[in-house]
Amino acid sequence: MQQNMALNVDLGARSYPIMIGSGLLRQGGLLDPYVEGRDVLIVTNDQLVSLYLQPAEALVTGSRVESLVLPEGESAKTLDTLKLIFDALVAHRFGRDCVLIALGGGVIGDITGFAAATWQRGVDFIQVPTTLLAQVDSAVGGKTAVNHPGGKNLIGAFHQPLCVVSDMDTLNSLPERELGAGLAEVIKYGLLGDAEFFAWLESEHQGLLQRDKERLQHVVRRSCEIKAEIVAADERERGRRALLNLGHTFGHAIERCAGYGEWLHGEAIAAGMCMAAAFSQRLGWLDAEQVERARSLIARMQLPVEPPAVPPADFLAAMSLDKKVIAGQIRLVLLRAIGEAEVTADYPEHELVDFLSEQFVR
Ligand code: NAD
Ligand code: GLY
Repeated sequence: MQQNMALNVDLGARSYPIMIGSGLLRQGGLLDPYVEGRDVLIVTNDQLVSLYLQPAEALVTGSRVESLVLPEGESAKTLDTLKLIFDALVAHRFGRDCVLIALGGGVIGDITGFAAATWQRGVDFIQVPTTLLAQVDSAVGGKTAVNHPGGKNLIGAFHQPLCVVSDMDTLNSLPERELGAGLAEVIKYGLLGDAEFFAWLESEHQGLLQRDKERLQHVVRRSCEIKAEIVAADERERGRRALLNLGHTFGHAIERCAGYGEWLHGEAIAAGMCMAAAFSQRLGWLDAEQVERARSLIARMQLPVEPPAVPPADFLAAMSLDKKVIAGQIRLVLLRAIGEAEVTADYPEHELVDFLSEQFVR
């Protein structure tokens, strides 16, 4: 397990480091080289303020540092909450040279990143992710967004951070279910692109559930390496980046059908990956033994392997709302093998309809 060196997301002039380690939030002045004396607004939420705001403030010295505390939760990822960030920037008279710091999970990262993408046509921002999901996924790659009542992440922009600071110690306070949701995204990386990593997860799952720091640091690092490589090759998701959506077309339909908030995003992706593996098997892409390995690891990580009971037609309708649908065709990320995924719309439609009918007959 090779650790400690910062990883780089290689995007030419917009390249940036991901710092991963324990005790990063205790390193006063860590962000000074990125902030360079400019005004800073730290955005966090009401659950994290007492835990991490003070150390985050100390990451910057010699600058004006203000903070804004937003309400917790996915329901706060809205245009109304976004306006609170703009209101704070106006109140503090922050200009085009300010820097925003997102201190929190994916919700805070996405909304703060979008505020940075749009405030005065774009200012710098830094990601300080505090959930496993944010450390392995949402803080890396520059997707920022808020939700619209018509759907998740419908209003957004690509805007890369100046750097990402992932302090493993923040995972100590993470609720168990949130840790599991992050582990689902970790399994995703093994399934889509690294069979060896998947096998390592199979042997180390107990240690991960027990929050062994060295193992968690390894999964954050390896997940970020895989994501950084894909993002560097396809920043705007014209092709390969869509692989990162393994399990998401089924998973988003689960979230939508169950009612947003009932299932955590990572839990829905876990069951969604099981569905993607089973559908791959149905098309003759994947053998039964590999489907069972995927399902078994997901179950051992204490994540759901079955979707909720939903009428198949409703589930199909929910899948049709996915952002990957092109000209009415549902594109799916399917598996050729553990460690090898492919985006495809090249399957008989009736196979998906029959598959869903069988999935939901119990
Ligand atoms: P979240 O941000 O809602 O955080 C989950 C919960 O954990 C919240 O209640 C939060 O207050 C709490 N929390 C955060 N850090 C904590 C800590 N260290 N200790 C204790 N509690 C803590 O959810 P999430 O799973 O981090 O992110 C989900 C969001 O990320 C969704 O909105 C999703 O759309 C988005 N997302 C974005 C991308 C992307 O590429 N931009 C990728 C995946 C997901
Ligand atoms: N979470 C998918 C992506 O960043 O593309």
